Amino acid sequence: MNVLLIGSGGREHALAWRLAQSQRLGKLYAAPGNPGIAQHAELAELDPADHRAVIYFCHRHSIGLVVIGPEAPLVDGLGDNIRAMGIPVFGPNKAAAQLEGSKGFTKDLCRRASIPTAGYARVTSRDGGLAALADFGLPVVVKADGLAAGKGVTVATTQEEAEAAVTDLFAVAGAEAVIEEFLDGEEASLFVLTDGEAILTFGSAQDHKRVGEGDTGPNTGGMGAYSPAPVLTPELERQAIDEIVLPTVAAMKAAGMPFSGVLFAGLMLTADGPKLIEYNARFGDPECQVLMTRLEDDLLDLMLDTAEGRLAGRAPLRFSPDTALTVVMAAKGYPGTPETGGAIAGIDAAEALGARVFQAGTRFDHGRLVASGGRVLAVTAIGSDIATAQADAYQAIDLIDFPTGFCRKDIGWREIARTR
Ligand code: AMP
Ligand code: GLY
Repeated sequence: MNVLLIGSGGREHALAWRLAQSQRLGKLYAAPGNPGIAQHAELAELDPADHRAVIYFCHRHSIGLVVIGPEAPLVDGLGDNIRAMGIPVFGPNKAAAQLEGSKGFTKDLCRRASIPTAGYARVTSRDGGLAALADFGLPVVVKADGLAAGKGVTVATTQEEAEAAVTDLFAVAGAEAVIEEFLDGEEASLFVLTDGEAILTFGSAQDHKRVGEGDTGPNTGGMGAYSPAPVLTPELERQAIDEIVLPTVAAMKAAGMPFSGVLFAGLMLTADGPKLIEYNARFGDPECQVLMTRLEDDLLDLMLDTAEGRLAGRAPLRFSPDTALTVVMAAKGYPGTPETGGAIAGIDAAEALGARVFQAGTRFDHGRLVASGGRVLAVTAIGSDIATAQADAYQAIDLIDFPTGFCRKDIGWREIARTR
């Protein structure tokens, strides 16, 4: 079977790497892809926003499955248009992708289905937002309603900060926002495959969202991750599945917009049990890199069964019990304006040690690999415990020559501190 993978990041490199190992794969194509993805797929010059061009490509190349990696094409309805042509898609359609695309939509669904989450108010104007702040204590969380690449959230510790966040948000015409109660606890991510009805647990991970060591500085898309996340114990995972994931899948089906694909639940483990912070409608980046490193089942099989509604009765997924850990190397300046064009060398040496280097913001420039975006590489290792995986990942990083790049030196610190 021929497969078309949409996307160009480290997540998609990890997906391409695993799809390429499938017994059932004919040819793998990727659009737009990157030099790392090109090791496993033929790159297609296709703009994922041009749905007609994508469909035409699918027909010409006998594509039997389209895998949509990032959220933007999902929220844009690419999946709906491809499905309408009879081609299976891994990833939800536009209506179901609202679980990620609209925070207000998700909060309303949680309220209807009694899903544990932070108390909230939806607001559509600056004055409405300022007035709603009075109903919340401090800290308080102010969120833009739509996709914001991890940048639309302010956790305000003072009234002034909260008011400034509301004012900033409504400086944009047509803005909508959610104001939320602050949840105290540790964050963990839970991934679940669902075909709209049945679910299959895909494991847990923890991300490091802040740019600086010790989880300081501005938010990013993610500077590193590991899987599994032992803080999400089997009991807490069961509770999150029963109280959060299953009621969501059922509520989406009842609302006539069944969610098919991977549901990524961002959880806060509070003193009152797991509560939903947010949903994403796709794999996390860089969480996907560690999940794919541990996955032992055939990814193409799983994605097809998800897309075609065959998850009921499937055996639980097989994962390595080991810990995978990934460290993101970003271009200096990220998450602000990254310095692009810097040369990258040493990937082969790092991989010779047993690590795997997933590429995100890279491109070839006159035959040399250079940085082309904020997050550039995800250097990934797997070991019998998190300390071993961490040591191996950083040993591999020592062999990578990327003078205009940087990384956090403490990925996994919370869990490593706990195991000591
Ligand atoms: P989100 O984009 O909704 O995942 O929010 C980004 C980050 O903001 C989360 O990963 C949390 O660290 C933080 N956050 C969001 N909502 C809350 C909340 N209600 N309480 C505490 N922290 C939150
Ligand atoms: N690493 C967080 C995300 O992909 O949303």
